[in-house]
Amino acid sequence: MTEETQLEARLEEQDTFEPPESFVEQANVSEEEIYEEFDEPEAWERAAELLEWESGWDEVLDDSDEPFYEWFCGGEVNASFNCVDRHLADRGDETAIDWVGELGETRTYTYEELHREVNEFAAALRAQGVEEDDIVTLYLPMVPELPVAMLACARIGAPHSVVFAGFSADALAERMNAADSETLVTCDGYYRRGDALDHLSKARDGLAATENDVTTIVVDRLGDEADTTVADDEHVYSDLLNAHEETTVEPVTRDAEDMLFLMYTSGTTGKPKGVKHTTGGYLSYAAWTSHAVLDIKPEDTYWCSADIGWITGHSYIVYGPLALGTTTVMYEGTPDYPEKDRLWDIVEEYDVTQLYTAPTAIRAFMKWGPEYPDRHDLSSLRLLGTVGEPINPRAWKWYYTHIGSEECPVVDTWWQTETGGMMITTLPAVGTMKPGSAGRPLPGVSADIVDAAGEPVEAGRAGYLVVNKPWPGMLRTLYNNDERFINEYWDEYSVRERDQWVYSPEDGAKIDDDGYITILGRVDDVLNVSGHRLGTMEIESAIVGVEGVAEAAIVGGDHEMKGEAVYAYVITEEGQTENESFRAEIVEAVESAIGPIARPEAVVFTPELPKTRSGKIMRRLLEDIANGDSIGNTSTLRNPDVVDDIQHKVQHD
Ligand code: PRX
Repeated sequence: MTEETQLEARLEEQDTFEPPESFVEQANVSEEEIYEEFDEPEAWERAAELLEWESGWDEVLDDSDEPFYEWFCGGEVNASFNCVDRHLADRGDETAIDWVGELGETRTYTYEELHREVNEFAAALRAQGVEEDDIVTLYLPMVPELPVAMLACARIGAPHSVVFAGFSADALAERMNAADSETLVTCDGYYRRGDALDHLSKARDGLAATENDVTTIVVDRLGDEADTTVADDEHVYSDLLNAHEETTVEPVTRDAEDMLFLMYTSGTTGKPKGVKHTTGGYLSYAAWTSHAVLDIKPEDTYWCSADIGWITGHSYIVYGPLALGTTTVMYEGTPDYPEKDRLWDIVEEYDVTQLYTAPTAIRAFMKWGPEYPDRHDLSSLRLLGTVGEPINPRAWKWYYTHIGSEECPVVDTWWQTETGGMMITTLPAVGTMKPGSAGRPLPGVSADIVDAAGEPVEAGRAGYLVVNKPWPGMLRTLYNNDERFINEYWDEYSVRERDQWVYSPEDGAKIDDDGYITILGRVDDVLNVSGHRLGTMEIESAIVGVEGVAEAAIVGGDHEMKGEAVYAYVITEEGQTENESFRAEIVEAVESAIGPIARPEAVVFTPELPKTRSGKIMRRLLEDIANGDSIGNTSTLRNPDVVDDIQHKVQHD
């Protein structure tokens, strides 16, 4: 046996891992008692105390109007002040953001420099007419101007709505219209695998479909390489900074419950949901979980490799780490450009102390092989984290061994856009790690696994995950839609006998005898493709919009790298030819409605869809077919013969 296979064999046997002693000794949180200390809502004051408040709160939790909970009521706080200004005295010359461009250029912002640019851009936004509570849309890739713009918005009390740069023009327009946004910050383009992508044209296509007359500000990322030049009615970001050189803007006083940002995410219907997060509760929660779970200290160089266009980047690239005054790393590009050791090169170069990434990335690293991390000195790492989808024990152990050298705890953190921050994970210095299981709910977070009637199921049985107590980072509502907020998250179990409101994240899970929770995946019509959340209805409506399509059903099939992949089953109208060019048209429609992340893995033409007698599509069967699994009982189908037809098609297409 080689050393490598001996190691694999040893790890295969091992189901539990203890936090390394060297980590425990220095951890921000290392006592088991912390779980008991969080028995009352007042315990959350310790999260809020990580921030500097202009004026303190009168009440920690107001639950008089459930489920519209309010936190740190009466408190006043500004997020930009907390992430920038208050670090100036001690850490003004220390690095706030270390940015690495895909082509190798780098930029560093000290807290002093960040302060300057945030102020100048805040002044520029004001001069463009942005007022407190106006929603500013940020359609930017991983460039430092994105966190700068977020913090500039926060400074003047204008909530931001970041739209992931990989989303399409239509997706941008939909989100801008839903938020009634009149200001857009975008850029000329960015690099992907060495190519300069034109982003501005996409932004303009989106603007053509917006209802408002929008002020557009364009960050110059590509310089001469840009395909599209800035038009007369668009403003150049750097010109605006110059016009407001060294201007300072007082951070506005925000009430704890004032909106900090909106983040659109996919749900069961075709329309994305505008998740509303507040200033006091969200920021306290992002800071607290960064402190307790990621073990961030000001002197660290911490790296979360997510995109700021998703909630992970909001909470754990920008707000949490900067609230704690640390150095946060941002990388523009892909992990395999120019080589498959790009991430390890950055870890070594910057002496990264914590790495937070997604299982989909870890699966890719495993496939590429340990020779890539082995080329680098990764000994600066102290903690590893994952988020976004279930991580299987093999990938967990690979990460632990080949990246962490068995010396870093791994935190598998379950949470959602709606929760604002981490909810279920081990604390890295407290208690055993069990690969494949996220762990216990965090101190102060209370979760159960229940059956369809809302009653807790026994250990080991699968059920629905529910959260029983409010927490400061929770969403407050869906923008302009309190009714949908209640229906989507709270209605289902609030009817049960218990006198409490229960939050339903729409995930399946099971719990073991130690209270460790294993997440099994979504139970609604939402897919998780490479850790990205996609609504099946959104994809279906894009497909049925194609002329010649009569009906479509989207399901998730297993995928080695992506976790789940999009499978499209399509019924065409009479007379429509089912050929490759029609398939390409369908794929193109999905990309243009949502973006390349939603691109179907396969488009299967079928004469019918399997339906129950009541006319509902049996998605489970379609999933089994996509996965090549054996098909269970089809006797409840109205049209059982269709299953054979579709299977045949999938095998022969
Ligand atoms: O299904 C769960 C999965 O991701 C969903 C939330 O997606 P989103 O709002 O985009 O936020 C992703 C980043 C926080 C959840 O409902 N998920 C997230 N983390 C985990 C996970 N599934 C298993 N294990 C996790 N650690």
